Amino acid sequence: MAAPRFRIDDSATAEDGASIWDVYQPVFGDYATFDTWCAAVWEKHRVRAGFRLARAYDGDVLVGFAYGYVGADGQWWTDNARAVLAPDVADAWLGGHFELVSLGVLAGARGAGIGRRLMRAVVDGRDHERLLLMTTSDAADPARRLYASEGWRVIGPGIGEATVIMAKGTARTGAAGPVPDHDRPAPGGTDRRDGHPRRMAGDRASRDR
Ligand SMILES: CC(C)(COP(=O)(O)OP(=O)(O)OC[C@H]1O[C@@H](n2cnc3c(N)ncnc32)[C@H](O)[C@@H]1OP(=O)(O)O)[C@@H](O)C(=O)NCCC(=O)NCCS
Repeated sequence: MAAPRFRIDDSATAEDGASIWDVYQPVFGDYATFDTWCAAVWEKHRVRAGFRLARAYDGDVLVGFAYGYVGADGQWWTDNARAVLAPDVADAWLGGHFELVSLGVLAGARGAGIGRRLMRAVVDGRDHERLLLMTTSDAADPARRLYASEGWRVIGPGIGEATVIMAKGTARTGAAGPVPDHDRPAPGGTDRRDGHPRRMAGDRASRDR
């Protein structure tokens, strides 16, 4: 693969969702059709405050993407994260945080630094003091290794089985809230339709019910 080309945007269209689907579907595979993913996820997320999308291309072919936005009380993920985190941890980290919602690289393009560059493109250099994501509870997973190497720490269980919530304070602020030094297991899930161990903050069908 030639050197990847990166593109970063602070807004996105419905058509951008169609291009991302070509990576989203093989990487995550949790929505049967583009239309269901678009209606349940993309059309809600792409218009949120602070939205940023990073894309990586091999030539003209999309091989990876990452996106996130500013989370707020009243949104599905923030409200459910508040329900599973310890109250002091939730109060310190949630609301006005930046959510790294989704990060995926096609299998054939992995291990070449694309995932790290995509993540940095979305979260680095922003004004947000608190960064959050949700991922697998398997600390040996490549995603967990990536996040740990970028300074993210587990702050509690995630929403759904075998997930955790991770947080990072920005370089400007340092740790923005308490970071428990233990990795508590997930509580068994608040939504049994969502057991995807790799799923991140916004990668779920029903987060905004
Ligand atoms: C996680 C993911 C985005 C990483 O993408 P990538 O382009 O392969 O990542 P990079 O090449 O930038 O590697 C960054 C770090 O990830 C970790 N990593 C990557 N592949 C790994 C592997 N096979 N085993 C262990 N750690 C691995 C390493 O810490 C690596 O840093 P290093 O190269 O300095 O050792 C990719 O594996 C992926 O799309 N996985 C499926 C979807 C997913 O899990 N997304 C995250 C949801 S929470």
